[in-house]
Amino acid sequence: MPRAKGQGRPAREKAGARGAEAAREPPLTLGVSGLGFVGVAMSVAFAHYGHDVVGYDVVDRRREEVGRGHAPFFDPGLEEELSSAVKSGRLRVAKDRESFFRDADVVFLCLPTPSRSDGSVETSFLEEEALRLGKLLRRSRSWKLIVVKSTSPPGTVRKIERIIAGESGKKPGEDFSVASNPEFLAEGNLVRDALEPSRIVVGTSDERSERTLRQAYSGFPGPFVALPPTSSELVKYSSNALLAVKVSFANEIARLAEKVGSDVYPVMEAVGMDPRLGKAFLRAGPGFGGSCFPKDLKGLVAFARQMGVPLPVTDAALNVNETQARHVVDLAETASGGLLAGREVALLGLAFKRDTDDVRESRAYPILGELLKRGALVRLHDPKAAESFRAGLPKILSVDPGPRVRFCETPEEALRGANLALVQCDWEEYAALPPSAWKELKDRLVIDARRSVDPATMRRAGVRYVAIGKGEP
Ligand code: UGA
Repeated sequence: MPRAKGQGRPAREKAGARGAEAAREPPLTLGVSGLGFVGVAMSVAFAHYGHDVVGYDVVDRRREEVGRGHAPFFDPGLEEELSSAVKSGRLRVAKDRESFFRDADVVFLCLPTPSRSDGSVETSFLEEEALRLGKLLRRSRSWKLIVVKSTSPPGTVRKIERIIAGESGKKPGEDFSVASNPEFLAEGNLVRDALEPSRIVVGTSDERSERTLRQAYSGFPGPFVALPPTSSELVKYSSNALLAVKVSFANEIARLAEKVGSDVYPVMEAVGMDPRLGKAFLRAGPGFGGSCFPKDLKGLVAFARQMGVPLPVTDAALNVNETQARHVVDLAETASGGLLAGREVALLGLAFKRDTDDVRESRAYPILGELLKRGALVRLHDPKAAESFRAGLPKILSVDPGPRVRFCETPEEALRGANLALVQCDWEEYAALPPSAWKELKDRLVIDARRSVDPATMRRAGVRYVAIGKGEP
């Protein structure tokens, strides 16, 4: 990824308010604990802006891989940025937690906060790490700032602070501080979102923590918003919930548009021209997936329920999403004359969205489950995510589908001789397929759940094109 003007210089040389303040402070070593999507992207970004970064992960292989400058997952531009950060010497990975903690002035906790079975948020990874850091802090003589970057319910910062204080015997606000600093990184766009954040939100309880975080983010563009910890924690949940509400709203209107012979895409385009609404996240599709929206919305609803506050809007966004995969398969079934049993469907795109190999909560899973339930045979293809999708299959299918599910190496192989195709993910590769590839479908039928292939190509291929959110005029 090309470096934007002014990027990549040491933080202390930066102009602007945050840079000027930072110039008066001794340089910081920023520690990143947890080298997953968020941890790797943030390590790369801190190093990019000239900070000294030390990373740590409990998994040996992850430490070794990232330490060599090798990205453990695919995201555009990440491998290049990571390798240059490691080569420049600004980013290194500690071999153990002790040396990591000793070297880091600030520790960003980028650890998983998965869903429990009731939808509530599991914060035990953070709590266990807080216990371990508390032990290390007992022997430490310097002030440390622990920053919760993981998405976690309001009140988590306070909880982590209590755990560390209890374990270390040290005083919060004096010997150490805990702050919140949510991330707004979207997969498929990790590098850009990390380097050019729309805003940097921090939740701090003392002046020193805020000053330290301003220094950690010196050189980064974007407004710096300082709030109390619970408000900062709530910003993250509200942002994801509102984005997901927009997606579910577009999906809801898509169903209506199909019925009345309209097209939800130009409709939402025009709706989004109102700057109060904005065009982003109004693209109808198979529903939202990924490791964040489904988990965070459920987490928010569960947390609010504990607080005695119902959240009907967020709940509704989840409900629409739950039924959207079935709706996509309904479109395929109706277009197939009401019968999918015995028909072979090429399911194109298994990642939860394009430009990532992540399949967590991918809508391809419920779509596949629904197709199998209706008796279809399914051929699967994805340019990046096929292996991880295959690994996740036993978790979602109660019975082994046997030969009814087959993975294909190329989209052409998936299309050749199948009855119909269903496009779940908008990979560029599918949009670039020539009419001759689509012509190979026995029933000459394509269901586009992402609005990603060109209807003109379909016309040239003599294929019937059924698009989500588009009715027959
Ligand atoms: C999301 C947020 O966009 C990030 O700001 C946030 O930091 C991140 O969650 C997180 O909490 O860590 P991500 O899940 O990577 O990022 O991906 P999005 O681009 O937000 O997409 C989420 C889902 O919504 C995908 O399944 C996508 O296909 C779907 N979507 C998105 C639509 O169906 N229509 C749209 O118009 C936009």
